[in-house]
Amino acid sequence: MNFPHFMLKEIHEQPDVIRDQIDRVISIGLPDRINILACGTSLHAGLVGQFLFEQIAKIPTQVRSSSESLCAPLLETPNTITIAITQSGETADTLAALQQVQSKRIAITNGIDSTITKLAEDTIYTNAGEEKSVAATKTFTSQLILFYKLAFQIAHWNQKLSDREFAAQVEALQQIPQQLEKFLSNNTIAEIAQSLKETRDLIVLGTGINCAIALEGALKLKEATYTHAEGYAAGEFLHGSIAVLDSQIPTLAIVTENNIRMQKTIDRIRANGNRVIEIEARTISELFSPFLTVVQLQLLAYHLAILRGIDVDRPRNITKSLTT
Ligand code: G6P
Repeated sequence: MNFPHFMLKEIHEQPDVIRDQIDRVISIGLPDRINILACGTSLHAGLVGQFLFEQIAKIPTQVRSSSESLCAPLLETPNTITIAITQSGETADTLAALQQVQSKRIAITNGIDSTITKLAEDTIYTNAGEEKSVAATKTFTSQLILFYKLAFQIAHWNQKLSDREFAAQVEALQQIPQQLEKFLSNNTIAEIAQSLKETRDLIVLGTGINCAIALEGALKLKEATYTHAEGYAAGEFLHGSIAVLDSQIPTLAIVTENNIRMQKTIDRIRANGNRVIEIEARTISELFSPFLTVVQLQLLAYHLAILRGIDVDRPRNITKSLTT
């Protein structure tokens, strides 16, 4: 298939990128604590990792942006491992943050032989292939798949998942590429983008594992479309921030199966007469929904950028990685 822009091509490469990762053998051992350092989109992948390590593998996990960890380093125990995630392997703050760490250092990167690989004791490559668009898409999902695999593996080792449960989770992971392909071949995101052409401000709401996707969706919309977008946890949004909404500010609500908290939030926003657009992933279990929800927000950012005449592969003011 021919794509007019790298961003769209890379969005469509995601099923294959995930497929390539599924059977790879990777390991980080069995730590008693995990620290994660990253910036930008990689930081949001780290938040998904935190959710999985804590909720599935029951390992206490902290995430801090690399720049903030230079001001406030994460606490470490003797059996902590620190994971630095960076698609480029060259982000200056992440390199500096990892150098401060005393515990075992692991890099997750797409940058073959990049600087981060020299600073880490072990490297897990995301193997997503070169990503040319400045806005990260396929490298994000390649980071996610590694976190799912690592969390299931640790959970199996420390008996938080039985053999049967572990096999079922791996099996569910194997279905993701197919589900994504189906979605990519038949979606209506371009129509939603059309309806947001004049929108200058957007709110993105998620719950649970999709809180990180709300942040990532908002970042993608800022990077690619220059829309002022903010991501929130749905329940928390009601505590003050909801005051900003008016008829000019639509809300994108990430809706997953049986999500009562999100429904309550949507009802409250609509009751005030304000618009809610559902980013919907009801046909997949909530645990695996980030793959389907993030791809919708990536596509929305892409289509909106094109409608606005933005050079989507090279947005203003940002670079692929911040190396100084
Ligand atoms: C830059 C880019 C972001 C990216 C971040 C982290 O600021 O504009 O899109 O997420 O760097 O990049 P990394 O290579 O460390 O994942």
